[in-house]
Amino acid sequence: MCVSLLLMQQDSASPLMEQLIFFHHHALLILVMITVLVGYLMFMLFFNNYINRFLLHGQLIEMIWTILPAIILLFIALPSLRLLYLLDEINEPSVTLKSIGHQWYWSYEYSDFNNVEFDSYMIPTNELETDGFRLLDVDNRIILPMNSQIRILVTAADVIHSWTIPALGMKVDGTPGRLNQTNFFMNRPGLFYGQCSEICGANHSFMPIVIDSVPLNYFIKWISTNVNS
Ligand code: CUA
Repeated sequence: MCVSLLLMQQDSASPLMEQLIFFHHHALLILVMITVLVGYLMFMLFFNNYINRFLLHGQLIEMIWTILPAIILLFIALPSLRLLYLLDEINEPSVTLKSIGHQWYWSYEYSDFNNVEFDSYMIPTNELETDGFRLLDVDNRIILPMNSQIRILVTAADVIHSWTIPALGMKVDGTPGRLNQTNFFMNRPGLFYGQCSEICGANHSFMPIVIDSVPLNYFIKWISTNVNS
């Protein structure tokens, strides 16, 4: 948590993002240890004038400095692989949201419910309220229940877009003609902001994503007022 604050990282809103942050800190720690060690060695080399005229090779030290980095890499590779498979896991989702990237807005479909679909455009700066987030708020937010497994299906209608929400550890490309799937779980209520992160044209920067994470009964109330019979 202290490292997150130092690096000005956002708090996680899902278990997957929490794991991603842990992994980042783990890799960063190894990186710092290597940098300090190599930095110290290089620094000290400038301030000694010992020369060994007969030193051509050292079997033992060469063995050590070949195998040691390989072992260090394993300590990064194995947790990384664990996370990779964890991110791809689908855990019996209770709601499915389909998000479609367009130039330059997102549209959403709640395929479990009858005809609940809408477009989600960025609010232009001149129409923003005083407490609004510039370039980050949208006219129609995604409403989803907290403490539930949610499946996201991502695709695109024109060019490649990317549905990215940092607080949830979500980053899925929307590709025309393909349907990508992921899964997330929001462990607290709140507004979670994201942006498209695949260079998709002139207004790439202006197709933000906003998820309104609400308790389950609020979600049921919202969806039942929007379902067409
Ligand atoms: Cu859509 Cu960048």
